[in-house]
Amino acid sequence: MTKSKTHALMQRGIEFLGSEHAILCGAMSWVSERNLVAAISNAGGFGVIACGAMTAELLDAEIAATKALTSKPFGVNLITMHPDLTDLIAVCARHQVGHVVLAGGIPPKGSVEAIKQFGAKVLVFAPTLALAKRLLRSGADALVIEGSEAGGHIGPVATSVLAQEFLPELAEDHVVFVAGGIGRGDMIAAYLEMGASGVQLGTRFACATESIAHPAFKQAFFRANARDAEASVQVDPRLPVIPVRALKNKGTELFTQRQREVAQLLDEGKVEMDEAQLEIEKFWAGALRRAVIEGDVENGSLMAGQSVGMVTSEQPVAEIIAELLAQSEAAFAAR
Ligand SMILES: Cc1cc2nc3c(=O)[nH]c(=O)nc-3n(C[C@H](O)[C@H](O)[C@H](O)COP(=O)(O)O)c2cc1C
Repeated sequence: MTKSKTHALMQRGIEFLGSEHAILCGAMSWVSERNLVAAISNAGGFGVIACGAMTAELLDAEIAATKALTSKPFGVNLITMHPDLTDLIAVCARHQVGHVVLAGGIPPKGSVEAIKQFGAKVLVFAPTLALAKRLLRSGADALVIEGSEAGGHIGPVATSVLAQEFLPELAEDHVVFVAGGIGRGDMIAAYLEMGASGVQLGTRFACATESIAHPAFKQAFFRANARDAEASVQVDPRLPVIPVRALKNKGTELFTQRQREVAQLLDEGKVEMDEAQLEIEKFWAGALRRAVIEGDVENGSLMAGQSVGMVTSEQPVAEIIAELLAQSEAAFAAR
């Protein structure tokens, strides 16, 4: 059988991931647990466990449970500011996890080396081209460029601009995955054509049949339009908060209020800046849990990307992947 154009262009990403298609489901805290991760990998994509704020024991159990549900490769996403990062890396080593994604900031000294030491591949995010080059020089194996259309924590630059800046410079010699705002296969075809080795999607998979997200969380996604997925605002210039894209609700206001409270603690000298930032991150982890697990779509955080308007019903993961691949192939055929 001749290989599709999509798969021909994904070849490097496929070899790197060891999956059937170079389509990653980006880690989503609370959502990317054993069931969704295994479903993605079993369907030929590449699932990634979101470690988020988990302890080493919880991560250990989650990896073991995922392994029980799939024999296909999957990865683990670790947040660089996690206070127990070293222990979490040790858990990944014990399980011989093949791919570790370092998210949430520049990898701390020694972390990339520690992961590579047990034979895993390291994927990193980079906000600028200069930093991307530095990380790749110092041992990172692949790069994810993620634009501001994405759900969850975001940078300020759109995916289309990042793709133009990074891909012509890096794609020839490096494995680069593009993320943020991808809702259809047509877009996948475009990024592959520009040199990407594959793509990463989050929003499109969050409400898959296999996702454990609460039915109320899923309903909120099905009803939402692109414009409902707004980036959070920073209310105090002294407290730098990473913007989060989520569906607008009462939780959005609660975040503004929480920022004011934390800024005041900072003013009163009751917390240091890094503690203040950790407080903000704890807020998000709690708020996301409230929406995803408890179904409190009013007060919880409905993190979603702008592609949410293209999520209209619950579909099995395999169906979503097949649809994306067919759309990509149709786009190439129409060229
Ligand atoms: C509900 C939700 C939670 C997320 N949590 C995380 C996370 O814990 N770690 C991470 O690196 N990215 C996280 N992301 C980003 C995704 O991994 C992925 O890169 C992003 O969703 C891709 O953009 P898209 O939503 O436009 O498809 C999250 C995204 C969503 C929608």
